[in-house]
Amino acid sequence: MLAIEENVSLLPYNSFGVAAMASSFFHLKDIGQFNELMNMPVFNGPRLILGGGSNILFTTHYPGLIIRNELQGIHILEETASRILVSVASGESWHDFVMHCVDRDWGGLENLSLIPGTVGAAPIQNIGAYGVEISHAIHEVHGIDLSTGREVAYSRDECGFGYRESVFKGRLKEKIFVSSVTLSLTKNNHHFNVHYGAIEEMLRKDGRHMLSVRAISDAVIKIRQSKLPDHHTLGNAGSFFKNPTVHASRAEAIKKEFSEMPSYPSDNHDVKIPAAWLIEQCGWKGKRINHVGVHAHQALVLVNYGGGTGVEILTLSQQIQQSVSEKFSIDLVPEVNII
Ligand code: EPU
Repeated sequence: MLAIEENVSLLPYNSFGVAAMASSFFHLKDIGQFNELMNMPVFNGPRLILGGGSNILFTTHYPGLIIRNELQGIHILEETASRILVSVASGESWHDFVMHCVDRDWGGLENLSLIPGTVGAAPIQNIGAYGVEISHAIHEVHGIDLSTGREVAYSRDECGFGYRESVFKGRLKEKIFVSSVTLSLTKNNHHFNVHYGAIEEMLRKDGRHMLSVRAISDAVIKIRQSKLPDHHTLGNAGSFFKNPTVHASRAEAIKKEFSEMPSYPSDNHDVKIPAAWLIEQCGWKGKRINHVGVHAHQALVLVNYGGGTGVEILTLSQQIQQSVSEKFSIDLVPEVNII
């Protein structure tokens, strides 16, 4: 009989640090428990799979079962002179796994250092930072089909990756439990990606002239620490919104009025505009409203100064959306999952 807890506080399980309760809660430590869990009546009500809780905003009491993924394990599946294929259980901490790779000089994930959350959540939202997305290193994603209980596997092509998107957020949303992720990493002749301006600048500043997995990881960690608040001391969930894409002609029209607007080419004739810049232009950067606010060093990060509720953060995010819509006619879409 599995130990399902009742009326559990979610405060320790969300990086925003908001108070909320769940009717039922289960710590999944062994994948063998999954089929038993699927046969319990509580599984058929509302349910939510929770990883590190670093990309979620609880605005209400959760009326069903929360399954906290605590699956652990890292296994080498295949190794050649130049590459390694490694399978990682989905409940492992993403950053701890990246450090595991950096320690062994396995290349491919160093730009994704210090991203909070679990390995299982990483392909779902195709985490990305400093010019690299996890999709580049994914070989397969393994999971359990939540309607049949059968094991399933998806190749990288089948994952339908896009900017902060995958098939697990689209067609297969809430249909698959990701149990492990298989990554293909380099052992030598690494393909370093340092074109993201701040990395080269940081490497220069630190006198690191030789590119290495470790040097890039260290640089990324320093950059992130300088801009992004640590959720252990200041509640947050990283970027709250996605960076919007608009047609190039629309970006040109905005640039006529705001010539300094940064923009980056995206797919087809689209252009990506940093949401942080749009939010800053609307005067929100560093603003505080009671317990919550907009981070002073990165306008895309909403913060909880302590005691803030999910509804306060949601209301702030809606006010920001409204300002950006009024000033630029651009609709910001949350990146964070709002429950
Ligand atoms: N900017 C501003 N004001 C600010 C901050 C940034 O105008 O307060 C402008 C600057 O022009 C800057 C540009 O926005 O050059 C981009 O800023 P930054 O490099 O900080 O990245 P971002 O686009 O805001 C994205 C990801 C981050 C990731 C960084 C680094 C999204 C939604 N966010 O942020 O991911 O760490 O790039 O690659 O794509 C996350 O998803 O939680 C996250 C933190």
